[in-house]
Amino acid sequence: MAALYRIDEIAAASGGVARDVAADTVSAISIDSREIAPGALFVAIKGENFDGHDFVSKAVEAGAVAALVSRDRADALSGLPLIIVEDALDGLYGLAAFSRSRSKARIIAVTGSVGKTSTKEALRVALEANGRTHASIKSFNNHWGVPLMLARMPADTEFGVFEIGMSAAGEITPLSKLVRPHVAMVTTVAPAHLEFFPSEAAIADAKAEIFSGVGPGGLAIIGRDHGHVERLVGAAEAARLATLTYGFADADVRISDYRATRSGAEGHVEGDGLSLDLSIATVGRHMMANGVAALLAARAVGGDVQKSLAALASHGAPEGRGAAILLGERSNPIRLIDESYNANPTSMRAALEVFAQMTTPGRRILVLGDMRELGTASADYHAGLADAVRAAKPDLVFVVGEHMAGLGEVLPDGLVAGRAQAVDEIAEAVLETLAPGDSVMLKGSNGMRLGALVARIRDRFGEKE
Ligand SMILES: Nc1ncnc2c1ncn2[C@@H]1O[C@H](COP(=O)(O)OP(=O)(O)OP(=O)(O)O)[C@@H](O)[C@H]1O
Ligand SMILES: [Mg+2]
Repeated sequence: MAALYRIDEIAAASGGVARDVAADTVSAISIDSREIAPGALFVAIKGENFDGHDFVSKAVEAGAVAALVSRDRADALSGLPLIIVEDALDGLYGLAAFSRSRSKARIIAVTGSVGKTSTKEALRVALEANGRTHASIKSFNNHWGVPLMLARMPADTEFGVFEIGMSAAGEITPLSKLVRPHVAMVTTVAPAHLEFFPSEAAIADAKAEIFSGVGPGGLAIIGRDHGHVERLVGAAEAARLATLTYGFADADVRISDYRATRSGAEGHVEGDGLSLDLSIATVGRHMMANGVAALLAARAVGGDVQKSLAALASHGAPEGRGAAILLGERSNPIRLIDESYNANPTSMRAALEVFAQMTTPGRRILVLGDMRELGTASADYHAGLADAVRAAKPDLVFVVGEHMAGLGEVLPDGLVAGRAQAVDEIAEAVLETLAPGDSVMLKGSNGMRLGALVARIRDRFGEKE
């Protein structure tokens, strides 16, 4: 594996001192001793539930050639190959800043209440068709995820894509200043994490922090299909960025003629010098918007529009975010829509809209889990889904969780096939109910663990290509 950093570069960037390190370079960086690649640097981060310092010797056994550790823990780790810093997380920030300063890559940062990962993955695919691309994995978007992803960026990267998230005001500013993107994107503003914010406008302001790290001549790309666009555009202009809005509403780049196709969806894209048809391999107006966002950001960093279009046309949904899976008999499969990763009122409505447009020979079945972190208005948000659920024309609805119970109460009795507090209590009933030809969508916050039921359904009925 190619070297990512020399040991002396790590020491200099993190303000640390190497002790008992035999290697000259590291080829990877990890904070998880279970996922160490041989030749890696292990960074001992202290989280809420664990402290990486307790796993340094495991990491070294697994092949780590050095561990970045905090000074107050170093004595207890004598004999192990260490780079000793004041604080390991600060050291990781230092390494990330060094990664950024040595890089010639064009960099994009993505935030928003929903759609960050979906858009980031679309961008990864579009940019990989254009050059050497490094993109954050999963939703590694917080105070350790962003520096870790940035520190992992190879020196010869041409395009970098970073997901930046937050659960409170003030969190994005330091991350944006670390990443220093050329292009900053806000996908949408929605009531997520409302527990920690007085209003949706306050959420918009927190998202707008992403503009703070963009240098002169930078660009803000802003989704237009929500209520806080002017606020975001104003913030971007105040940060002296050029702005480009996109969406189904009256945006700089407008999407029209959205239609679901056999293998995904298509739409027409018009504005800012573009007039083209975009096809994507997923369904949903929201996924089309994410595709357009990716196309615009890729173009803004020098990507070729035709190459990006071709790549997006064959890009499916990330796991748990609307992936459509055919199970069982080829002639009459069960269609499973896996939305188990995440849910809030915006993504729930988007998913129900997709489900509404699906045709199916069998029954239409929904398994809906709690949308978490909605604060005091949670009950209203859950019961308020009734119209969207009815519009999706389900034959059966299973509700899981204390909040979804409220939706169960306002839906007609005959429609609600099962109610439970936790997914384990309802899994058998769902498995028993499913039959060839049915379509089933599972959606809830990740913590509701509907993904475990998705796995059991896939297991039980067997996958078809
Ligand atoms: N633009 C969008 N508008 C509404 N819903 C969306 C949009 N993009 C994706 N979704 C849906 O929202 C859910 C979460 O998507 P995704 O994982 O991309 O969001 P995220 O912002 O990365 O979330 P997290 O904060 O958990 O990292 C999925 O169910 C997805 O289908
Ligand atoms: Mg994410």
